[in-house]
Amino acid sequence: MKIGILVGSLRKNSWNKKLAKEVASLIKEETYFIDLADMPFYNQDLDLGEVHPAYTRLREDVKACDAFIFVTPEYNRSLAPVLKNAIDIASRGPEGNLWKGKPAAVFSSTIGSMGGVSSNLALKQSFTCVGLIAMAQPEVYLSKINELIDKDGRLVTDTRDFVQTACDSFVDFAGKIIG
Ligand SMILES: Cc1cc2nc3c(=O)[nH]c(=O)nc-3n(C[C@H](O)[C@H](O)[C@H](O)COP(=O)(O)O)c2cc1C
Repeated sequence: MKIGILVGSLRKNSWNKKLAKEVASLIKEETYFIDLADMPFYNQDLDLGEVHPAYTRLREDVKACDAFIFVTPEYNRSLAPVLKNAIDIASRGPEGNLWKGKPAAVFSSTIGSMGGVSSNLALKQSFTCVGLIAMAQPEVYLSKINELIDKDGRLVTDTRDFVQTACDSFVDFAGKIIG
């Protein structure tokens, strides 16, 4: 199983990037970071004739992965635009919707006290439309993430244990769907 990891923050020192690296280290299956740093906003005009190369690269990445973990902050009580943009791009184009039937999880984290629950659930709303199959439990909302990751980028023990459980649950869930 190859698990694609998509991060909703482009910031160099992003807590969510650090969390995503920890997630990758806790998963025994193959993981692959899908780079969204320079992805243009989806524009159907860029799918006419010569398709924008960044769209093609993203679609190839999505096709090559069996399952996905979205790691996301929350922006103004809603989802991270770079993730929604990625969902949109790989849901259209020459080969149509590339997400359909693939398992996915959302792990959200913020430095505030609500753990990104609004962004997490808003993202899952788009999953319904493109046919990504969301893991329901455990839900992963990490609040005060700046207190849960140490200066070396490692999760503190309790949180690491919880994230490990969530990763294991996801691998199990995804395995049942992929068959
Ligand atoms: C435009 C903007 C909107 C934000 N809105 C929220 C929000 O609705 N809820 C929240 O908990 N944090 C919010 N934050 C704070 C983020 O959780 C915080 O900046 C976090 O560190 C971003 O994730 P990152 O470290 O992975 O970049 C917002 C930050 C920005 C820049």
